[in-house]
Amino acid sequence: MPSARLQTMFKELNRIVEVDEKRAKIARAPGRANIIGEHTDYNEGYVLPCTVDRDIVIVAQPCNYEVILHSINLNTTIKFPLRNIRFDPQDRWGTYPKGVAHYLLQAGYEIDGLIGVIHGTIPARAGLGSSAALEIATALIFQLLYDIEISPVEMALLCFKAENEFGGVSCGIMDQFASALGRRDSLLFLDCRTLSHEAVEIPSSKLRVVLLNTMVERSAEAVLNKRKLECQKAVQIIKKFRPETKSLRDLSTDDFEQLKNKLPATLGKRCQHVVYENERVIEMVKALKRDRFDTIGELMHTSHASCRDLYEVSCRELDTMVEIAETIDGVVGCRMTGAGLGGCAVCLVWDRAVEELAKRASESYKEKTGINPEIYVSKIPPGAGEFVDWNENSGEIF
Ligand code: GLA
Repeated sequence: MPSARLQTMFKELNRIVEVDEKRAKIARAPGRANIIGEHTDYNEGYVLPCTVDRDIVIVAQPCNYEVILHSINLNTTIKFPLRNIRFDPQDRWGTYPKGVAHYLLQAGYEIDGLIGVIHGTIPARAGLGSSAALEIATALIFQLLYDIEISPVEMALLCFKAENEFGGVSCGIMDQFASALGRRDSLLFLDCRTLSHEAVEIPSSKLRVVLLNTMVERSAEAVLNKRKLECQKAVQIIKKFRPETKSLRDLSTDDFEQLKNKLPATLGKRCQHVVYENERVIEMVKALKRDRFDTIGELMHTSHASCRDLYEVSCRELDTMVEIAETIDGVVGCRMTGAGLGGCAVCLVWDRAVEELAKRASESYKEKTGINPEIYVSKIPPGAGEFVDWNENSGEIF
């Protein structure tokens, strides 16, 4: 028996086209929370995200020449022929599926059109990787319908291109990679230069990932494009003294300390964040492997402070949320997650403290900011895949 969510999706699809149950497929791609390693991915550094149990699901069947996708959440439809795909700012969310189709064709994959419906449970503009999940779900539905051979890494790279080159957002590879390759109950330690990756297990029977949504919506695009340019400028200056520097990833903390006086103040701060944040990711992996929970908390705390003071991508609401969470016994660590300036804080919390955190964070945050936050307690599900188990549904909202 399909879940209520899937039943609704099939019903919606039936309104657009006669459903061919033998040929229809279901693709699911999760959102992500980044535990540490913020704004390091586009500097070819390290990140440590995990999947969250909020996702984007597409139910679709093949059709000829064109793509028709209806968003149930937004009640809008995108329709485009597979020939001469062009960027159009009017497409809004449709930019992402369009970009994915464009690069699949450009890479020579033999795909034809599709008609389908999309439903998502990832809050948009909350820093949880909703656009990457939409891209990965789109690539996956093409793969399922046309049996194309594409590895999860290739899929992540292609979707990254769709967002960067087609959509014009200077993001890194983290979100697409986490959605496509995330592993159940694990954090994904990824080297964004070599793409080598390792699943780092967390004691999932006792430790929860809790997301505290400040409900401050932000445009990731503006932050990312600006910060990426600043990092590139810093690299240009550093190259004069160290010509072998290709990205901020190439600097150790000692290198940075020697070079910092050569940089204008703002670029120095951006650089300092990236260099030390990379080191924190490596320290975090070690601490997780050794169950050093105090160190984990300290690293998350320092990372947040660095995002706030050096990279300047936090905001009053995020700082307030993190401060509240950190006072609660049983919260291992808390920090902003994603591009910043709003969206969510992520916490690692002992099971016994989840209820207290949810209660206190809601009350104190409302009292201090006047805003009602949303709180999601999340499991760490596997990365994207075909939705085959009718009962293993996530993010019921109907
Ligand atoms: C956004 C981008 C990611 C990453 C983060 C900041 O989520 O999509 O690639 O740059 O911001 O760490």
